[in-house]
Amino acid sequence: MTTEHDQRVADTLDRLRQAQAPAQVEAIRIEALGKQGWVSQLMKTLGAMTPEARQAEAPRIQGMRTRIAAAIEERKEALEAEALERRLAAEHLDLTLPAPEQPLGTVHPVSQVMDELAEIFADLGFTVASGPEIEDDWHNFTALNMAETHPARAMHDTFYFPDTGPRGRRMLLRTHTSPVQIRAMMEQGAPLRLIAPGRVYRSDSDATHTPMFHQVEGLVIDRGIHLGHLKWTLETFLRAFFERNDLVLRLRPSYFPFTEPSVEVDVGFALEDGPRGPVRVLGGDGDAPGHGWMELLGSGMVNRRVLESAGVDPDVYQGFAFGLGVDRLAMLKYGMDDLRAFFDGDLRWLRHYGFGPFAQPSLSAGIGARA
Ligand code: DAH
Repeated sequence: MTTEHDQRVADTLDRLRQAQAPAQVEAIRIEALGKQGWVSQLMKTLGAMTPEARQAEAPRIQGMRTRIAAAIEERKEALEAEALERRLAAEHLDLTLPAPEQPLGTVHPVSQVMDELAEIFADLGFTVASGPEIEDDWHNFTALNMAETHPARAMHDTFYFPDTGPRGRRMLLRTHTSPVQIRAMMEQGAPLRLIAPGRVYRSDSDATHTPMFHQVEGLVIDRGIHLGHLKWTLETFLRAFFERNDLVLRLRPSYFPFTEPSVEVDVGFALEDGPRGPVRVLGGDGDAPGHGWMELLGSGMVNRRVLESAGVDPDVYQGFAFGLGVDRLAMLKYGMDDLRAFFDGDLRWLRHYGFGPFAQPSLSAGIGARA
């Protein structure tokens, strides 16, 4: 009997050594030490033995159990260590390898256009400023010459917060980037040269309007600034952005409360044959045959009341400002036709219209190079 048991123990230990998977080890454990296992069954026979027999048998059976249990533990650990080794070998990362040719993730066209704007305007000596998206009505309206009763306020479809903020001001989601003009002038004083790209909000939604969209504001404050500076700056910027030297601007009289005079800026385009009918191609004199004008942005000379609100002396400093939709710029340049797709988060759209994460816009490489 003893040799029979010893043989069975030796056999079990042998099979454990050969087990290649945790499941095999577990099967062997159940067979020997499980509730119905043969060692457990042997343990149960102890109760029926005489005290003398039990004294002799108990340590022997206990010893078999201990040896098998220890061998199981050992094999389990060895298998786990082997599995870990294999995983580490398979998962190792060689940081010296070049980046994959098709990196995951793309830069959203809006981010790309904002980077392009920053690059172009940095070259003209502009800094990039920002302001809060949760604004108060003084910065968003009042300081921009839109008093409480000003009809232009109603045109902005404003999202208001139920509670007032500091100084009892009504809080809102900014409806345009123009309040950054006020904040920048109050914080930095004159002279100034900045752009302020960012999110703005209006309660409006269809194929060309989303409740959140992006604008970029431009502001230049200095001595002796006039409309000619505005026109040259916009022309230089738009030619760089659309990468067309034949871009022609038309300044049209308009009205904004925060500028005086105000001008709307159109760009000339030509109608050319496309695969699905005529397409507008930017460039050329909009009045020429087969051409037209497309409205692009609002701008003007900063109203002296705005300068006064922001603590800048209008008898010393003048300035121009402009504001335009970043999403619209992206659509025009990169040919998307539905604004809502910008914010759907559809990976197929992002892969199609997105930009490589390593493609930094630069004036020397071409401002919209996809790389
Ligand atoms: N803030 C205006 C809007 O959202 C756009 C604008 C027009 C900004 C003229 C300006 C400007 O700075 O001078 O409709």
